[in-house]
Amino acid sequence: MDTQLESLRAAALVEIESASDEASVESIRVKYLGRSGSISIVGEGMKTVSKEDRPRLGKLLNEVRQTVTAAIDERKTAFAADADRKAFDGIDVTLPGTPLAPTGNLHPITQLLDRTVAIFRRMGFQLADGPDVETEWHCFDALNTPADHPARNEQDTFYLADGHLLRTHTSSVQIRTMENQPPPIRIIGPGSAYRRDEIDATHLAQFTQMEGLYVDRGVSVADLKGTLEFFFRELFGNDAEFRFRPHFFPFTEPSFEVDIKASALGNRWLEIAGCGMVDPAVFEALNAQRGDTAFDPEAWTGFAFGFGLDRLAMILTATSDIRHLTGNDLRYLKQF
Ligand code: DAH
Repeated sequence: MDTQLESLRAAALVEIESASDEASVESIRVKYLGRSGSISIVGEGMKTVSKEDRPRLGKLLNEVRQTVTAAIDERKTAFAADADRKAFDGIDVTLPGTPLAPTGNLHPITQLLDRTVAIFRRMGFQLADGPDVETEWHCFDALNTPADHPARNEQDTFYLADGHLLRTHTSSVQIRTMENQPPPIRIIGPGSAYRRDEIDATHLAQFTQMEGLYVDRGVSVADLKGTLEFFFRELFGNDAEFRFRPHFFPFTEPSFEVDIKASALGNRWLEIAGCGMVDPAVFEALNAQRGDTAFDPEAWTGFAFGFGLDRLAMILTATSDIRHLTGNDLRYLKQF
């Protein structure tokens, strides 16, 4: 039995050594160590061996099994490593990678819009929306703007053949919101506005505005000032100073224009927004339209504001000509 085991071991090792691939190593394993493999069969014979010989032969049998198993594992690992190496043939993994195609970036107005929305969201404002093609009622009448107001002039406003118009400001979003939702309301409405302006370095016929509206019990001018000052300080820095100059808008009373001075803006006064307390006439127009008294001016007050995102984007990016914002010139856009 000793010699039988020794010669099986020697034969198995020679075969393993000369195997040409992983599959033949596996068939050698079956041939010697499988259930009816030759080493296993010799092992079966252990039952008939005398008591004195059993420990020695048992030990030898284990050794032979272990040696052959180890040789098979080693050979299999070597073949697997070979296959891995072949997979990388012709590939120089030390070469630098291929650069990704340019990923692009967001337009300066979009970047500003995202920042603006994020700041107002922190103060509890929700996003509101409305159509660019509006009715005269949503754009003017409901906003207390009389028929003979110059803004309604055909020279200023794009009218469509069917009597609709392109909204001249996003203030129509206030009206759309209040039509559909009773107070309290706290919304911002960004979007395009359109005017028949001569296009030059500071005017486009289509531009971008941000509207805000806050209606609740006991809203005051102090809330309006606090909200706008917080917003513009977040945007332009804590050293910003403000002037609320009395002004006139048909839909707010009192109304103000807001000027800002900040080191980030070159420390000069710049006009940046219009705002005011919602005129009770606006609430009444909505009550009449809704057929209820949801916006009872005795119970609710509110403030509204609007500013041009193009103008703020120009200030922030030191862009001297508004036409760059729509020109799609990559040399300009790549800077931001
Ligand atoms: N709609 C005004 C404009 O286009 C901006 C504005 C002023 C909006 C005062 C408001 C406001 O909501 O209260 O010039």
